[in-house]
Amino acid sequence: MMNTLRPLRLFQLPVASTRSSSWWAGVPMGPPDAILGVTEAFKKDTNPKKINLGVGAYRDDQGKPYVLPTVKIAEERVIKKNLDKEYAGITGVPEFFKAAINLALGEGNPWTSSGLNATVQGISGTGSLRIGGAFLRRFFPGNKDIYLPIPTWGNHIPLFKDSGLNVKTYRYYEPKTCGFDFQGALEDIRKIPENSIILLHACAHNPTGVDPKPEQWAEISKLIKQKKLFPFFDMAYQGFASGDMDRDAAAVRLFLKDGHQIGLAQSFAKNMGLYGERVGAFSFICSSKEEADKVMSQLKIVIRPLYSNPPVHGARIAAELLNDSSLRGQWLAEVKGMADRVISMRNQLKDNLKKEGSSRNWSHITDQIGMFCFTGMKPEQVEKLMKEHSVYLTKDGRIAIVGITTKNVDYLAHAIHQVTK
Ligand code: LMR
Repeated sequence: MMNTLRPLRLFQLPVASTRSSSWWAGVPMGPPDAILGVTEAFKKDTNPKKINLGVGAYRDDQGKPYVLPTVKIAEERVIKKNLDKEYAGITGVPEFFKAAINLALGEGNPWTSSGLNATVQGISGTGSLRIGGAFLRRFFPGNKDIYLPIPTWGNHIPLFKDSGLNVKTYRYYEPKTCGFDFQGALEDIRKIPENSIILLHACAHNPTGVDPKPEQWAEISKLIKQKKLFPFFDMAYQGFASGDMDRDAAAVRLFLKDGHQIGLAQSFAKNMGLYGERVGAFSFICSSKEEADKVMSQLKIVIRPLYSNPPVHGARIAAELLNDSSLRGQWLAEVKGMADRVISMRNQLKDNLKKEGSSRNWSHITDQIGMFCFTGMKPEQVEKLMKEHSVYLTKDGRIAIVGITTKNVDYLAHAIHQVTK
């Protein structure tokens, strides 16, 4: 007879026989995070000349974290409103996420005007990608394989694996030229089985700083359409790459014009400097309003058991910035200011390497775009740079240009020349 009192087993616990004195005795030590671990090492270094070029977090020319003046104004306005601290809905602060998707697709765009988007607030870029990953795991009608460029942002791989997708790769970067491997990418995309997911960096590819040119994007879009792949865009740097929001969103908008349905994760960490406030958004662009409503209902069901509903403070600041036209104008000028400082540091680093006497071709420093430069330095050179010169960067040779200043650029160029000559 069936025992109706038997407890329902939702998942299998590990066998207790390996247990010694503690429940956690069997937990192995994990490695430090490939990106955030660099900051930990930097903090321990006592050399006054040390430079942290690990994490992509903008610094001003004094090497200090930068709170955008318009963010300060927006925050003061939010505080003056004396709002309550009630929960936002599961999908977040509507004034924020509606403005966020319009920033990506352009004011008055045909997709949001017709209600084709299902957009929710996410916990910065990572959390927004994770919502997309979890939804795709549950509902993507294809094969649950997601293809990532090689290389890609270090966190993409565990993030999509933990979402339950199968992570595969396509060629993207050509080490010989420190540029885009266009032919390699096309060849690999051609081989991807139909009904798979492909992840694309909308602009300022991380870690390489290498983006396809507009005509290359057009070809990639055509091929992805032919191959019936689902394009999932990660847009963490809108405005930060070129200083122009529309230009940096061009690939996303091109894909929509070409008739793709897309997934889109947005982060406001970099372009608003709201790193720790964790402000982001996730959208699907659907084929009808009814479909978007259904997708939205399921996005809520995905989010609720993950974190219930998102934090409100940063989203309120972002909403204030996006929805007030004069403040928004000032903000765009500040973003342009950050992008221009990055471009000027690229030029100064390249010039100083030449002055040091480096005979290497460093043109990729200025050809690449966004927060990072993929220098082409080998792991042993990176190791030397850290150990002998206290210059901290990720093992793959990526440097966060945003950490370079007019004061440390000479020292940096000297150090890089010493390890690469
Ligand atoms: C980076 O790549 O350095 C940034 O996107 C920060 C992060 O979370 O890794």
